[in-house]
Amino acid sequence: MQLITPIIYLILAIFLLWVALSFRNASNSFAPFVPCRKKELPRIFEVINPKDGEIFYDLGCGDGRVVFYAARNFPVKAIGIELSLFFFLYCWFKHIFLADKGNITFKLKDLFYEDLSNADAIYVYGMPKVLEEKLRYKLEKELKKGARVIAYGFPIKGLEPESVRQPDENHKKSIYLYRF
Ligand SMILES: C[S@@+](CC[C@H](N)C(=O)[O-])C[C@H]1O[C@@H](n2cnc3c(N)ncnc32)[C@H](O)[C@@H]1O
Repeated sequence: MQLITPIIYLILAIFLLWVALSFRNASNSFAPFVPCRKKELPRIFEVINPKDGEIFYDLGCGDGRVVFYAARNFPVKAIGIELSLFFFLYCWFKHIFLADKGNITFKLKDLFYEDLSNADAIYVYGMPKVLEEKLRYKLEKELKKGARVIAYGFPIKGLEPESVRQPDENHKKSIYLYRF
């Protein structure tokens, strides 16, 4: 019995360390957690234009708002990839206990290790330098012909967008559509 309390503290300390380290790693890897604004979601999905049965990804899904919106409003398989343990658990609990049960999968994973060859549509909101210097090569290498990538806020430099939705008085960010 005397041994149980320190063991519980040790497990808790390891868990909190894992949460903190994965949060820091995620902030430095692709982008820190800055969610897209909820009122932008309809406009983002007008550009994504998901079709029946498509596989949709949010790379670095944060609190999962884009994934939940996709699964709630479109007949897609929605996949959220997240490196931060805190946000992964948040999404997982929300999916299991609160949110609608759409066709949703969350993965605790570095997005740069996810095989994207079966993706139909991919949404990204990442730092411009990482989009250009790291993600672009992965997309060019792995995506199938016809796959769409929707970049929110920042363009993927080095790729030619098929269309750009400019900000207006109600929407602060640009949305870039790329087709492979
Ligand atoms: C700018 S936020 C975007 C959140 C969400 N996609 C949205 O638009 O509301 C970027 C997210 O990517 C996550 N992230 C950063 N690096 C990552 C990586 N290498 N793999 C997976 N997720 C990562 C961060 O933890 C953060 O939640």
